[in-house]
Amino acid sequence: MKINMPKEWLRASLDDLKIISRIIDIADLSHMIAFHSQQSIEKSFKALIEYKQLKVPKQHDLLRLKEIIIEDLKLNNDDLLDTLNQLYIDSRYPSEFGLLPDGKPTLEEAREFYEFALNIYEQVKNILEKKSLEVIGKSIKLRFVEVKDAEFILSLRLDDNLNKHLSSVDDDLNAQINWIKKYKEREKNKEEYYFIIESLSGEKYGTVRLYDFKDNSFCWGSWIIKPDRPSNTTIQSFLLSIGFGFNKLSFPKARWDVRKENNKAIKLYKLYGAKIVSEDELNYYFEYKKEDYEIIKDKYKKFIN
Ligand SMILES: CC(C)(COP(=O)(O)OP(=O)(O)OC[C@H]1O[C@@H](n2cnc3c(N)ncnc32)[C@H](O)[C@@H]1OP(=O)(O)O)[C@@H](O)C(=O)NCCC(=O)NCCS
Repeated sequence: MKINMPKEWLRASLDDLKIISRIIDIADLSHMIAFHSQQSIEKSFKALIEYKQLKVPKQHDLLRLKEIIIEDLKLNNDDLLDTLNQLYIDSRYPSEFGLLPDGKPTLEEAREFYEFALNIYEQVKNILEKKSLEVIGKSIKLRFVEVKDAEFILSLRLDDNLNKHLSSVDDDLNAQINWIKKYKEREKNKEEYYFIIESLSGEKYGTVRLYDFKDNSFCWGSWIIKPDRPSNTTIQSFLLSIGFGFNKLSFPKARWDVRKENNKAIKLYKLYGAKIVSEDELNYYFEYKKEDYEIIKDKYKKFIN
């Protein structure tokens, strides 16, 4: 079994924090609170370094480790990191463990170290959890839309070759940015997931969205793909996004509507095994069950991991 190293480092960091929480009121053990705070931070940093697929240095120097992941974390107190870095952790004398150069930390100092370590742990945990919601395929991935994607999304939505069958949007970058900001709230509340479809190295090809979650189904849509995408982007993005709804969100069914004249999309949906369950003057309404997805996933299994 492949070991998930970032997760393992983070779990080890949490173990240090758990130990601290048991001794946090014991003044006599303030040096051990400091010692485990240092250990927790070192492990949180290493979790993030592993997560970024960088080489984890075999060293305890927190300042050196920090340099590697400086852009990813907000460390609001560099002095504290500097102080913790001076702790005796490799001492030849057991009595020196957890001591600062000028002796044992006060309980107040030790508590500050703990809060600091806890904050770093939480930040790294958030970063790692976000990653676990990233959806990786063979040659593309889906990642959550960010405010910085506003221009790209607007360019897709304003492209006359792509927007013929979509609801119109204004040519207004600020409105798009505000829309994304509101979406990020819904994402945080687990009410909606809006993805950028991109290459594994980050070249953007399109978008897809899961929203309007009901008891047993999710709405799937905002599927737009630039014409100059590499081969297989379309099937991969369909399977990855629909699979996210079935596998990660545990819905048994997806639904969406499509304008009746959108022949290209309709042809693909039928090819993928989706069924028209109703229609009105403007739209066909499709349903797609997890079983339908399993068949197509098997047929195109070489395109997903
Ligand atoms: C709808 C949309 C996402 C489809 O993506 P697309 O890349 O243009 O789709 P294509 O028709 O080129 O087909 C995709 C792939 O399926 C293949 N394909 C198409 N019909 C096929 C068939 N009958 N049998 C086998 N393969 C087929 C194509 O060859 C292509 O393969 P490739 O990825 O190896 O090049 C895209 O056209 C788009 O963004 N449209 C505008 C927005 C829109 O209407 N969205 C849908 C709203 S409901």
